Amino acid sequence: MVTVQKLLRLGSDLQVDSARRDTEILLCHCLDKPRVWLYTWPEKEVSQDCANAFKQLLVQRRKGIPVAYLTGQREFWSLPLAVSDATLIPRPETETLVEWALELALPNAASVLDLGTGSGAIALALASERPQWHLTALDVSEEALQVARGNAVRTKMTSVHFVQSDWYQAVLGQRFNALLGNPPYVDADDPHLGLGDVRFEPRSALVSSNRGLEDLGRLVIGAPDQLVDGGWLLLEHGFEQAKTVRAMLHDAGFSHVTTRLDMSGRQRVTGGCWHAD
Ligand SMILES: C[S@@+](CC[C@H](N)C(=O)[O-])C[C@H]1O[C@@H](n2cnc3c(N)ncnc32)[C@H](O)[C@@H]1O
Repeated sequence: MVTVQKLLRLGSDLQVDSARRDTEILLCHCLDKPRVWLYTWPEKEVSQDCANAFKQLLVQRRKGIPVAYLTGQREFWSLPLAVSDATLIPRPETETLVEWALELALPNAASVLDLGTGSGAIALALASERPQWHLTALDVSEEALQVARGNAVRTKMTSVHFVQSDWYQAVLGQRFNALLGNPPYVDADDPHLGLGDVRFEPRSALVSSNRGLEDLGRLVIGAPDQLVDGGWLLLEHGFEQAKTVRAMLHDAGFSHVTTRLDMSGRQRVTGGCWHAD
């Protein structure tokens, strides 16, 4: 038998800044305990099966596989969301988009569309805050939608309507009070694609042609036909793309075009309002 404390020491060779944190999360996953339990019971003996499972996870973490894929879960907006290698791992930066959406002066029963929902992060966060909104969440990936639907059931946000669609294709003719999206926006040649967790995430969730701007451009161009008068489009993008996305929105006829910063102070979400005249 081996103790909690001894097992935690096994992760000290992980070559990442978050070595201790990752080790604790992986051990908690095997023990099915919260992290505080590790500090309360460092001398507690751990079963052989659990110790073996933990050692296997450390082997995979040493190969670079993201902790969220190893545990199958990542928290977003305090919701425990399942993730798989078919979904992006939700990022804290995306909470900037959620916060902005919650500040919009929308009708009580607003209809809101999440474009490229992945694990369902944005739609489910909004559903948890605005249960009276009519939320639709689309993605081109059926595998991602399966994960998102499972998350809706697990978090009891079953009113969200999920639909498979190539951007606006399946919702043409419908109009929304707000369109929100975190589309793929990374240039295929971006060296960051070869670093850290990103290496294991689906390329289709990350990479867009035309220097990362193709999908952002498609969403902007199509937005006026999908918005009610006075509706809003909010898009997450790379921090170096803010100026270009603002120009796209101006060119498409949006007003009140602004960019918001993420918690690292980087220009991350750009939005504007659509008036039909
Ligand atoms: C950056 S991920 C965002 C996932 C999630 N919204 C989040 O913030 O964690 C982009 C998502 O867009 C989806 N996507 C890519 N191309 C698409 C398309 N043509 N139509 C619809 N969804 C698409 C991907 O499958 C992926 O789930």
